Order: sequence, then C-alpha cells, then structure tokens
Amino acid sequence: MVSSGAMDYRLPTTVVPQRYDLRLDPNLEAATFAGAVSIIVDVREPVIEILLNAAELVIESAAISQDGREPIHGSASLDEAAERARLVFPVTITPGQWRLALRFTGILNDKLHGFYRSTYKDASGTAHTIAATQFEATDARRGFPCWDEPALKAVFGVTLVVPQHLAAVSNTSVLREETLGDGRRAVTFADTIKMSTYLVAFVVGELEATEPVMVGPTPLRVWSVPGKKHLGRFALDIGAFSLDFFERYYGLPYPSDKLDLLAIPDFAAGAMENLGAVTFRETALLVNEAAASHAELERIADVVAHEIAHMWFGDLVTMAWWNGIWLNEAFATFMELLAVDAWKPEWKRWITFGVSRASAMGLDGLKATRPIEFEVMAPRDCEAMFDLLTYEKGASVLRMLEQHLGPEGFRDGVRLYLERHRYANAETTDLWKALGDAARQPIPGVMDGWIFRPGYPLVTVGIDGAGLKLTQQRFLYLGGPPDPAEQWRIPVVFRASVKRGYVERRLLLDGAEATVPLPAKPDWVVLNAGGHGFYRVRYAPALLKKLAGALAKIAPIERFNLLSDCFALGQSGMMTASDFLDLTGRFTTETDRNVWAVLTGSLAWVNRVIADDQRPGLEALVRHRLDEMASLLGWEPQEGESELDRQLRGDLLRMLGTLGNDETVQARAREVYAGYQVDETTVDANVLPAVIAIMAASGGESEYADFRDRYKRARTPQEEQRHLYALAGFRQPELLRQTLEMTINGEVRSQDTPFLIRSLLQSVYSRGLAWEFVKQHWQTMQRLYPGSAYRRMYEGIPALVSPEWERDVHAFFAEHKITLGGKTLEQYFEQLRVAVAFQEREAEALAAYLGRLIKAR
Ligand code: BES
Ligand code: ZN
Repeated sequence: MVSSGAMDYRLPTTVVPQRYDLRLDPNLEAATFAGAVSIIVDVREPVIEILLNAAELVIESAAISQDGREPIHGSASLDEAAERARLVFPVTITPGQWRLALRFTGILNDKLHGFYRSTYKDASGTAHTIAATQFEATDARRGFPCWDEPALKAVFGVTLVVPQHLAAVSNTSVLREETLGDGRRAVTFADTIKMSTYLVAFVVGELEATEPVMVGPTPLRVWSVPGKKHLGRFALDIGAFSLDFFERYYGLPYPSDKLDLLAIPDFAAGAMENLGAVTFRETALLVNEAAASHAELERIADVVAHEIAHMWFGDLVTMAWWNGIWLNEAFATFMELLAVDAWKPEWKRWITFGVSRASAMGLDGLKATRPIEFEVMAPRDCEAMFDLLTYEKGASVLRMLEQHLGPEGFRDGVRLYLERHRYANAETTDLWKALGDAARQPIPGVMDGWIFRPGYPLVTVGIDGAGLKLTQQRFLYLGGPPDPAEQWRIPVVFRASVKRGYVERRLLLDGAEATVPLPAKPDWVVLNAGGHGFYRVRYAPALLKKLAGALAKIAPIERFNLLSDCFALGQSGMMTASDFLDLTGRFTTETDRNVWAVLTGSLAWVNRVIADDQRPGLEALVRHRLDEMASLLGWEPQEGESELDRQLRGDLLRMLGTLGNDETVQARAREVYAGYQVDETTVDANVLPAVIAIMAASGGESEYADFRDRYKRARTPQEEQRHLYALAGFRQPELLRQTLEMTINGEVRSQDTPFLIRSLLQSVYSRGLAWEFVKQHWQTMQRLYPGSAYRRMYEGIPALVSPEWERDVHAFFAEHKITLGGKTLEQYFEQLRVAVAFQEREAEALAAYLGRLIKAR
C-alpha cells in the first residue's frame, strides 16, 4: 500500500537534478537573501510541469532551455504545506538534458534551520549577524529550490556574494574571488562531489580561522567569532587525529579538498556534518583545555570525531531515504567511539559508552518504542528519527556485530560497502551484503531482529544441574505477559567461576531457551561478559547474591550492566525497590565513574518518585553510598592520578552536595568558590563545575545574581553553560521564577532555552512551577523556539511523577495541537506511566525503607 503520506511528501522522479550552479546574495542587515540557481536536469518522461521542493521562498522566475536554444518560460506556484514548488510550462518538455534557471528570494530566519541568521555581540557590545545553514533533515528547500531528498545527489557549484570584509565559507575551497565594485565580492567555490542537498552549507560573517593544520593534502581549520580563535586548539588536535584515523580505517581518501570546523553562536543541534564545512554549537567545538573538565573535553572529542566520521559514512555514501538514517548516525557514533578510544585509550571510552547503551535500553523497553529502521514521510517525523534508538541502539548493535565478526572482518566489510556505494546511496541490506561478503557469512539472520524489530530481550539465567539454563523474553517496563514469538538471535558471552578458575563461553541463543553444561557447578557467573550485548540479564536470586559478593572480580562494564539491569527490573516490578537499594550498598568502594553514574542516576530517579517527607532518608542513603570514595578522593587532585579519577572526584562531590544535600560538602564548596573568586587557579577544572552546581543547590539570592552575571560575561562556552544550567538548580521559588522568565524574555539563546526548561521540569524543586509556566507560555515558546526544541523541552515530562500531574499532562496534550513527531509523545507518556506505577506499587515499602534512614540519622 502506498500511504497517502508518501504521495504528499515524495517528489516524482520524472525529472531529476544532476548539477546545481547556485548564486546567493545574503543581506545580513535586512535578514533576506536573493538567489539564482541553474540546474542541469535529466528529464526522463515528457512533462509539462516540474515539482521540486521550496519553502519560505518566493520564486520570481522560472525558465527551461536546451542546447543554447531560446528558454521556455514557465510559471511557478508554491504549496507551503507540502513545501513544494510547481513549475508549469506552456509546452511539453521532452526527455533529455535541460537547464532549469530559477530566480528567487528568501528570508534569513531566526529558527536555526534552512538559511538562517545567528547573532552575537563583540567585546564593545556591538551586535553582529552571521548567516549560516542547517539543512538536515529537510531544510535545504528553505535555502534554494531543489530536489530535497537524499537519493537525488548532484554536484554543487556555489557562489556567494558578500560584503568585502566578511568571510564566506562553503563545502569546498575557494576557486576565485571577484570584486564587484560596490563594496562586495563574489566568492566562487570549487565543485563539490556528487552529494545530497542536506549536506550543502554556506556561512557568511565576521569569522576568523585558525592557521590550517595539514592532514596529508587536506587543510583543517577551526572558525569562530572574533576573539575565540584560541579556543580551537583542542578541536584541531582531535580533528587532525580523526581525519587521519578514518582515512586509514576506511581505506579511502577524505572526499573533499579542505575541512573547516565552524562554531556558530546559534545552533539547534550539537553539530552538522556538511561536507568540508562542519558546523557546531560553540560548546561542542571551542574550549580552553586547561580550564575544562574531562566530561567537557570528552564531549568535544566525541562530536568532532563523529562529524568527521560522517564525511565518508553519510556524505560519500548516503542512506537512500530517512528510514535508513540509522546507517548514518549509528555508524558515525560507532566510529566516533573507535577514534576517540584510539586517540585517548586512557579515557576508556567504551566503558562510558555503557551510559549511552543504557539510555537507549531505557527507551527501547517501552511499548511505544520503534524499530531502529522505521518508515518516515513527514519532515517532523524525520526529525523524530534522531533519537536514542538511531544513535545509541544503532551503535550498540554495530558494536555487538563487530565483536561477533571480529574487528578486522568488520572493517573490511565497511571498506567494501563504501567502495561499492560511494557517490551514491545505500540501504541497510547493502551493508549486510558487504559485511557478509567480507566476513564470508550471512549477516541478516543475526541482525535483522535488532534492526527491523522493536525492543530487546531479557535473558534469565539459572542453575541447571552443573550447567546454566538461559531463557529469553522481550523486556518491557510495563509488562503484560510476554509474547513467546518475540525472540532474538543473541550473541551471548558469559564467564563463570568454576573450581577456582574461569570459563568463558560464547553462544548464539536463538531459541526460547538453552542449557549450557559446565565442568562443575559455578560459584558465580556473569552474563553479557565484556558488556557488548544489547540485552538485559536477570539472575536467579542465588546467582545474584553470589555475583553481588564478587563485584571486585568482574569488569567495570559488567558492574555497570548489573546495576543498570537491576534498576530496570526494579522499575518494571521484577525486583523490589528495597532489593535494588540494598544492592547499591555493595558499591561503596566503586572506582569507575560510569558505574557511579548509573548508581546516582537511579537514585535521582527515585528522588522524583518519593514523597517530600522521605527526601531526607534518600539524602542519607546517597551520603552513605558516596562518602567512602569521596573522602578517599578528597577535594584536591593527587599526584599521579588519572584524568578519570579527577572527573570522578567532581562527579561524587556534585552528587553529595546536591542529591545528598551534604552540609559539609556544601560549606566546603562555598569556601572553594570564595577562593576561586580571588584566584582562579586554586580550583581543579573537574571540581569547579561541581562547586557551581552545589552552590546553586544550597545558595540564595547573592549566588544567583553572581551566576547570572557570570553567565553573561563568560569567556568560554563551558563557563557560560555551567552558570546557565546552575540557574535551574536553585531551590527557592522566587529565584526559579526568574530562571523561568529567562526562557521567554530573550535573555537566553533559543538554542539553549529548551534544555533549560527540561532541567527545570526535572528538578524536584522546580518541576511544579515549571509545568505551570509551560502550560501558560507554550504558545510563546512555540513562536520563539526552533522546531527541534519541543522534543527537548517536553523530555522533562516524565519527571512529573504523580497521578494528578499525569492526568494534567494528558489533558494538556489532548487540548493543544503540539506535534513532537514520530512516537515521541507516546514515549514520554509511557515513561511517566512507568514512574507513577512504580510510585503506586512501592510507596509504602519506600516510606518504610527511607524512614528507617531518617531515624538513623
Ligand atoms: N547529523 C547530525 C545533526 C542533526 C541532528 C541534524 C538532527 C539534523 C537533525 C549530526 O551528525 C549529529 O549527529 N550531531 C549530534 C552530535 C553527535 C556527536 C551525536 C548532535 O547534534 O547532537
Ligand atoms: Zn551524526
């Protein structure tokens, strides 16, 4: 069945583009642009009309010509709802090659998509405008009329007409510049490779670049607004490393002639992989390495490596349609990890990836999940595809496959895939084919269940004689009896302690159950050994007890998964909350920060579920769990310790001072901050962000005023970000009201307001106020924020944990037409349901458990 959606959004392929020659003349003051495009098209069937995409453009003229003959003039009309232009000609256009010439005008919008404007103030307070593009997924049509579908690849020849003193950047290097005599110049760029429209980019403004770093023949530069060039060093380092790393891994040269990384002050996503002109939000590119925390540096390394990985995976070879976006994003995420891990093995990036895998499992355990590959038609639904399933589940199953095939076989398959499909498009089946050809084994059998079906399995393990019995069923937070037909082919790895030695086994569990004999009855066993599997494990009670007593003998990622799986079992009612909280008591000497992240993350979730009068009990529990390690680490970095230990110190102090409400830590944080105000070098870069967050949680009006001021005067994007989000971490309603006001009064960039609202909805001290504020001002927000914002801000909804709020949330969305795209809203509703159901189920037990801790104080 061809859905009506398909008819509404896909272009006919009777006429397809081969080459665009595009000239754009942006007027930064007026926030408009004029353009002319000449498109070589291939007419495949006789037509009298041509359909192509255009949105928020006025097409002033359209003409088509062949072989230098007289042009045929047509009329253009726009269908804004379908985002299409219809060009009608007085005579039939016969099959063959034609040149279509269009003149048009448009606006530089403030919605951070299409061809848009971004503004910043210089040191003297003067405002400046930058024109930049964000075309993915479906917004190239706002920059110029085009066939805006990923499979309609073409060559782009771009000319930008700009004021003499402004920089102009596009996908390729400058071919020539022509002074126009009126204070402007025309900058013409070299032809691009054959590529999709969503990868075209232009940036115009007062920007400065670092000196280029040469990576083989390719110059690599970082661009920023004036005065921030010195913050590009770190990105250049990881950029150069990853460019070289990927050329070797992929076995193909970088597919363009230069690589610019540009920090744009207003940017909706984190970064965008435009070929040769990658754009970023400032926090994802610019940093003062000496003053940044490990987490902040890791973020930049990740994003830079991710976007550069796309230059091949995405840009050179592109998914045929948006249902296959996982091919782009999961791969770039997987490759980002490989590169960052190779760059800084001491960062142990694959262990940290456990956090991402766990968040994907959080989403994929919902009934309202979707398969990784999923049908999409409408633009808003394309946007909704950029989620944890595409990125994190996708990267997880690729990692699982890589481990299953072996890293080299996998890499050879990737090379084969890129070589076969370069300058063209591909489908998931093409990837399986290439991987299978390289590895000489069929892939679809193992992989299809993970890609084309929603959800993932729960493997239950028990003792059976001297061996193990494994069974699988789908994991769902909101159960109901599992459907026995839902099964996966699971590459299972386990390690068992048997007779004072270890045995490790690999098997493919492809039925409902399996029995695995062992030489003797094991002392303990850890399933999903190595932690690469995208499944959860439920141990029989006796096995769980044994494993909990052997934590020091298993790997950090295995401890991570144990806690994460048990927490999920607790959320779904398969383990009691008390048992879970008891289990956390085994982790007081934990040394891995990711394990701590899952532990404190689960306690923060519990904090949103419990009644206010139980909070002191939870705070006491948090202090008990964290105290030992926090005292061991202290406040000062120690000689010879690793970067990860420094970050762990910051993480633990932050949790103690906020979720643990630890007065001693709060008092010390105030002292440290006072010292910082006198001499900034006195505070370790990993401790400072924690101190700021703690000061917010325990501070008042004067701290608030100080942070707000520092937010405005920040010298680095990280400093700006820390102080901004701290404003959501205060606890006094008067102060929180001011922060809420900042989400609509223009004080905060619209790229950040949705995240600020999300934080305010998630904090137990502000969620009630924030929800009332959102209900009152959602229309204003809808008017001010970029379209991608709604999904982000409403992500805070599952934190509104009470039956009353839950009803209110449903009523609100029933009443107002707010489209989040895909299944996003259903997912938020279900996450809220999981929390409220847990609250109803566990209220009494939690009150008793935490009550004892309050008394014990
Ligand atoms: N292609 C995306 C950017 C994007 C996302 C465009 C959604 C349009 C809609 C880019 O490659 C990306 O994945 N960016 C991430 C950062 C990355 C390190 C995960 C982002 O923007 O968060
Ligand atoms: Zn990406």
